[in-house]
Amino acid sequence: MEIRNVHDVDVHSKYVLLRDDFNVQIVDGKITDTFRIDASMPTIKYLIDNGARVVICSHLGRPKGRFNPELSLRPVAEYMNVPFIDDCLKKDFLLDMADGDVVLLENLRFYIGEEENDDSFAKKLASGYDIYVNDAFAVSHRAAASIVGVTKYLPSYAGLLLEKEITNLTRVLNNPTRPLVAYIGGGKVSTKIDVLKKIVKIADKMVIGGAMGTTFNYALGLPVGDSLCEKDMVGTVNEIIKLAVENNCGLFLPLDKGVGKDFDKDAIRENRDADKIKDDDIIMDDGDKTIARNIDLLNIAKTVIWNGPFGVTEFGKRWGKASFDFARALAEYTKQGKLESIVGGGDTVAVLDTCGVLDDISYVSTGGGAFLEFIEGRTLPGIKVLEK
Ligand code: ADP
Ligand code: 3PG
Ligand code: MG
Repeated sequence: MEIRNVHDVDVHSKYVLLRDDFNVQIVDGKITDTFRIDASMPTIKYLIDNGARVVICSHLGRPKGRFNPELSLRPVAEYMNVPFIDDCLKKDFLLDMADGDVVLLENLRFYIGEEENDDSFAKKLASGYDIYVNDAFAVSHRAAASIVGVTKYLPSYAGLLLEKEITNLTRVLNNPTRPLVAYIGGGKVSTKIDVLKKIVKIADKMVIGGAMGTTFNYALGLPVGDSLCEKDMVGTVNEIIKLAVENNCGLFLPLDKGVGKDFDKDAIRENRDADKIKDDDIIMDDGDKTIARNIDLLNIAKTVIWNGPFGVTEFGKRWGKASFDFARALAEYTKQGKLESIVGGGDTVAVLDTCGVLDDISYVSTGGGAFLEFIEGRTLPGIKVLEK
């Protein structure tokens, strides 16, 4: 699919409504992870350099159409050092803008029309601008007013980040250097069924970890103790295993687990083989043998896709070990030019950030849900409307 991009249009002296995804975590007014904001900078810089008048809009969290001071984008404006407009439908400030100026609008989701893709909200949002640019890959799976609705009212183009996401992910999905090894972890099989079904068709090997690995092991009849496990997913897991066999995709499940007696970051960690999990064990990470096996598999990979941590990484070092060790190894193999690595998913990218290896991975997607839907092969609504 060919899409219209920002290079196709003269932006000089034009009022550009730029949709970014600044849905970042803010704790006590401080942004804890600026990755998405930083990734949006090349387009903003391009527009400034070409004399556009740049008005950025974004959502933050899920305020459900109501003003919520905790979900204000003001801290993002402060981080970017640009003026902040406290209502996304205000227009009076436009008159004061000069070529190359940038401002940030308040959270779009303070209006219910944003998520509902309400036509009159989209029309109001679009009014006063000459051009719309979508650089918000991470929310392009949502048919929102600022993603889809406004394109009815403004000539619309993709920004550089959106284009980069599409190019990189498409290339890896359609033409990976093989072997392609996919590592999929996280909490729930149920949120990733379609991704798993797609991955077994394109990958040479698939490694399953985290609570998702617990559910797979349960389906094979292994004990899971008192752990997070989706017991009603056994049928789905069996379907995925069958698909893996049919598609000649080698499946690698957890060999052992890090377990504790309480779901608590300070719980004492023991290592337990997958067939020896006790009734009162709570699995909170993949075990030492699994960690070593997962890292060893990097030796045969030429391309690696990773989504989903292998443990409760929010609990820090003790229960993040499988994910942190793997992140560091993946970064090292990438740096040494042994493989190409592609990582996506909010919690997974947070692991890279914690380990300080964000810059060592070949491609880190800004998408969470959008990354998964793109891998599934779905056409994201925000991308479809930019088709040439
Ligand atoms: P991403 O955001 O990168 O797509 P997910 O949201 O799918 O990743 O998975 C991350 C979540 O999975 C985290 O909240 C983490 O605590 C949880 N998780 C991973 N392994 C386990 C486990 N063994 N037990 C409980 N939760 C787990
Ligand atoms: C994300 O963080 O994945 C995107 O910003 C989309 O957010 P949403 O799931 O609240 O629509
Ligand atoms: Mg997540």
